[in-house]
Amino acid sequence: MKQLVINGIAHDVDAPDDMPLLWVLRDVLGMTGTKYGCGIAQCGACTVHLGDQAVRACQTTLDMIEGQAITTIEGAAGNPIGAKVQTAWLEKEVVQCGYCQSGQIMSAIALLSTNAKPTDADIDDAMAGNICRCGTYVRIREAIHAAASL
Ligand code: FES
Ligand code: FES
Repeated sequence: MKQLVINGIAHDVDAPDDMPLLWVLRDVLGMTGTKYGCGIAQCGACTVHLGDQAVRACQTTLDMIEGQAITTIEGAAGNPIGAKVQTAWLEKEVVQCGYCQSGQIMSAIALLSTNAKPTDADIDDAMAGNICRCGTYVRIREAIHAAASL
């Protein structure tokens, strides 16, 4: 049994050490906001935070994370930057099908946490690992600039 602190709440988790965090979140804890896209760290749909760092939950196993604070999309609004990003996302009507958007938002929050006024190039660099089949990239960039101005 391991204890994980997710969005500020402690959870006791009975799962193997090598289980990816993505499956712990979705299958063990029923937190389905974090999405499965590729399973091989190529799409970004599963992005969550360990501390302030954006990580791919599909490639982050339980034994790598014990003792670290985890934030998922369900807890994103709990930090001021997360709330601004979600407001900007709505204002700019970023979402199309929505499947990639949890990961996009978590990567955007991680970017703005370390760079309060990112340039287009900073945004493209930070968001390069988050794929959107619907092609919402232009609106994502606009929303990140908007969030930086809130
Ligand atoms: S599901 Fe983790 S990066 Fe695609
Ligand atoms: S909004 Fe559909 S995959 Fe990004």
